[in-house]
Amino acid sequence: MNKVFDEFTLHKINGHISTIFLAVYPDKILILDGGCRNDVWKIESYITRKLNRNMSSVKLVVASHAHPDHAGGSPEISRKYGLKLAAPRAINKWYKGPWGFIQHKIDTLLGFHVARATGKPFENIFYPRKVFYDYPLDDSALLPGFEDWIVFHSPGHTNHDIVLYNENARLLYAADVILCVNGKMLLPFPVPLEDKMTTSLDRISDLKVETLLLAHGGVMKVDGMRKITRNLQGQLYKGLPPLLEKLKILESFSPEIRKEKKRKKAA
Ligand SMILES: [Fe+2]
Repeated sequence: MNKVFDEFTLHKINGHISTIFLAVYPDKILILDGGCRNDVWKIESYITRKLNRNMSSVKLVVASHAHPDHAGGSPEISRKYGLKLAAPRAINKWYKGPWGFIQHKIDTLLGFHVARATGKPFENIFYPRKVFYDYPLDDSALLPGFEDWIVFHSPGHTNHDIVLYNENARLLYAADVILCVNGKMLLPFPVPLEDKMTTSLDRISDLKVETLLLAHGGVMKVDGMRKITRNLQGQLYKGLPPLLEKLKILESFSPEIRKEKKRKKAA
């Protein structure tokens, strides 16, 4: 069911891998992550048929981080309809250079695996690794044209993840910083930057949140963030089961992770 706030109505679309959220205002629409590249037609059909609005009423599309189920659809729909795209300033460092090329291919293949594991049909989710954005999102910036939303840099899952907070609506879009699987709040996989994730969780723990939006988990009613963030920090401290710990190697190719590892070694 759609959730009505004072200024907008929240709509959700079940994408190929992730949940896509639309904040629909009387005169404009904000897309909170456009899912995978093959989700574009679903968003388009939802806006034009279900909402009976033109695609030109979309005034901003956000890509929260570089992964295929976030930066696959957002740039694609932005290109197709000439819509403004906002993304973290550092998004293109993640897949930069030859190591970034390898990481991008691994992440896309992992995307295929997740889709298959969740019973989705085979569809092409390959997408360009470079994101051409109109607005770089710095920490504490307000979303252009949607100044009721504030950006918080929340690295940990990548070095550039963001979450978006709407204080008036007491709403937090946590993108991939928090997951909910079978009713259990979980950290994303992987968290290669654990120290940064701890700080990111601290940062959102005092926000006044009543509705939490998760790209993997949907819409949740919550009573603040503190209990959730403490639980997730406990999971970080406990570490991963041995098999998953080994699989973290798949996420160690990004030049940003390699740089961080070198920095830690030298310290
Ligand atoms: Fe992700």
